[in-house]
Amino acid sequence: MYKPQLFNFNTVEGMTKKQLDEHYALYVGYTNKFREINNLLKQRISYQNPSPTFSRLRSLKKGESYSLNGIILHELYFGNITGKKGKVSGKILDLINRDFGSYNNFVEMFTNTGLSMRGWVVLILGDNGRLRIIGQDSHDDGNVYNGKPILVMDVYEHAYMIDFGIDRKKYIDTFFKNINWDVVNKRLENNNTPK
Ligand SMILES: [Fe+2]
Repeated sequence: MYKPQLFNFNTVEGMTKKQLDEHYALYVGYTNKFREINNLLKQRISYQNPSPTFSRLRSLKKGESYSLNGIILHELYFGNITGKKGKVSGKILDLINRDFGSYNNFVEMFTNTGLSMRGWVVLILGDNGRLRIIGQDSHDDGNVYNGKPILVMDVYEHAYMIDFGIDRKKYIDTFFKNINWDVVNKRLENNNTPK
């Protein structure tokens, strides 16, 4: 369960192998912790003496959602910055134009959301068929469940400090240059047809 996925970081331009490898190591750590937590949650004793102030189960549940969201978000993030790059096109461009007015508007909104949050920026396709930019301060903060994640950007310091220092804007510009729009369009296809 939750074996780490492999990603070809050789395709990423403007970021060093060290930056990406260290980031990947953090992701692997989440998969290890999630397995550990999952095994503990199979034990009846984990459910004894519950308390919302402090209990074994509370710690496990907080760790479960944190590590599981950490795995999912990192796989989406690594997945949309590796492989073929290119100009934005296809269905995603149509929806971006419809829901944000223009691609440039979208880039500005997504970038500035990235400069405003501490963890993640997630473009979702909501169950109303519309795109929405979600900002998260951590893996398990701000998540919404009525939408499918289409494009994910990690803005934790660990995602860019080695290569960019505190220049997060430069990192975000580099992120945009590496987006695999085929992957993004594929995620869109695997959803309900926008209304
Ligand atoms: Fe990360």
